[in-house]
Amino acid sequence: MPEANQSGGRSGACTAVVGLQWGDEGKGKVVDLLAESHDATVRYNGGANAGHSVVVKGERYALHLIPSGILAKGKAAVVGNGVVVDPEKLIEEMAGLERRGVDVSGLIISDRAHVVLDYHKIEDGLREDILTAAKSDKVSSGPGQIGTTRRGIGPAYADKVNRATALRMGDLLRPEIVRERIAMACRLKNAMFKGLSPTIEPLDERGITERAIECGRRLAPNIRDTAYLLHDLLAQGKRLLFEGANATLLDVDHGTYPFVTSSSCAVSGIGPGTGVPPSKLSRVIGVAKAYSTRVGAGPMPTELFDAVGEGIRTRGREFGTTTGRPRRVGWLDLVALRYSAMINGASEIALTLLDVLPGVERPRVCVAYRIGDEKSERFIPDGERLAKVEPNYHELDAIEPGLSECRTFADLPPNARRYVEFVERFVGVPITIIGVGPGREQSLIREHW
Ligand code: GDP
Ligand code: IMO
Ligand code: MG
Repeated sequence: MPEANQSGGRSGACTAVVGLQWGDEGKGKVVDLLAESHDATVRYNGGANAGHSVVVKGERYALHLIPSGILAKGKAAVVGNGVVVDPEKLIEEMAGLERRGVDVSGLIISDRAHVVLDYHKIEDGLREDILTAAKSDKVSSGPGQIGTTRRGIGPAYADKVNRATALRMGDLLRPEIVRERIAMACRLKNAMFKGLSPTIEPLDERGITERAIECGRRLAPNIRDTAYLLHDLLAQGKRLLFEGANATLLDVDHGTYPFVTSSSCAVSGIGPGTGVPPSKLSRVIGVAKAYSTRVGAGPMPTELFDAVGEGIRTRGREFGTTTGRPRRVGWLDLVALRYSAMINGASEIALTLLDVLPGVERPRVCVAYRIGDEKSERFIPDGERLAKVEPNYHELDAIEPGLSECRTFADLPPNARRYVEFVERFVGVPITIIGVGPGREQSLIREHW
């Protein structure tokens, strides 16, 4: 198959990169591949719960709030209004990159992105602890804890929707507003926290306020109206690259609810999360691993609990970029993948970490779910019902070793190629990028079929 250039050789303004599973599919690496052929990279959802690893010339970078495109010299990296920003974490991340010689002057943050503060993280932790206790006390037979990253994501989005006590990045530039909103928030949160945990200390309102004002002062040069900025870029014929955080099966509407995150991770989040309408997208690249992983609680029908899973975890270095937690591992779930491709209107798929599968004697992929006597090829975006399905598998031949040295699709040995082609046929979307290692050069680029 002929090789395409890295922009895919196609015209059109915008590309979206979005996770098709439960996160950590290698979105950061795909964004890094495409950033050079776009003018700006834009995050539209999530917050510091994301952890995107990019390996450039053997150096590993972990991005959490800053778009991975920051590593492409001279390009804008935009944090859209749909992101919830922990400003101290952001400043830390900027400093960490600068220490390693990365130019962060292209970072622009929406004045409408919401702010994550101490009390959001405390609330996130308290809720998780109470849910765990309720489950172990048998007060609830329900879901128990979600296994969040405890980065304050859910409470920050909840406050955004609750309105009166929320702060946006633009508000940080106005100390009067910061004082007022944090005072109101502390009044509400103190009452709530005391009810949840009677021995808890009251919030340090003054400290939180001063730190927020200081963050505003430091970030002032980066804070702007990004909706106008992005539309100005589009009017100049510039190309935007949207970087999804988290993933479709964690999407608050389309994921395995309630075991999801609190934002719209699928492509549908781009409109509300940036102000750029979906009509501007010409390419939607869904990123999927050649197997499944999940961090935190919630159903994963193809989960492996044996030595095969352990081997994949070790070879794939499946430990969280953000929390260091071991990731749960399972076979590739094609029922879920076809669903996610549908929800996103994926025009192509990047299949990553194929190099991790050699070593597995009989690789399997899930092609249907069994629920009682019924068989279905439809995904069930409901945490409790999905937990009850039994996967039906198709077995493939063992994939040959040595994939990491391949540089084109034709270099792949036959069973590896057959694995890719099976996935492609089942999902009905072309696989245009194949990952055979974490490095930039370890991506096999294929032309559209
Ligand atoms: P993201 O959250 O979707 O950006 O993914 P993460 O960065 O959290 O996790 C993906 C991990 O796999 C990172 O450590 C990447 O360096 C690594 N990675 C990405 N693509 C490949 C690949 O094709 N092969 C291997 N072996 N590692 C990869
Ligand atoms: P990237 O962008 C993997 C999971 C958490 C938890 C659930 C809710 O690196 O792919 P939250 O803190 O968001 O309220 O947690 O969502 N989660 C992720 N899992 N990768 C991510 O991001 C994730 N972001 C959230 O583990 O189960
Ligand atoms: Mg990740």
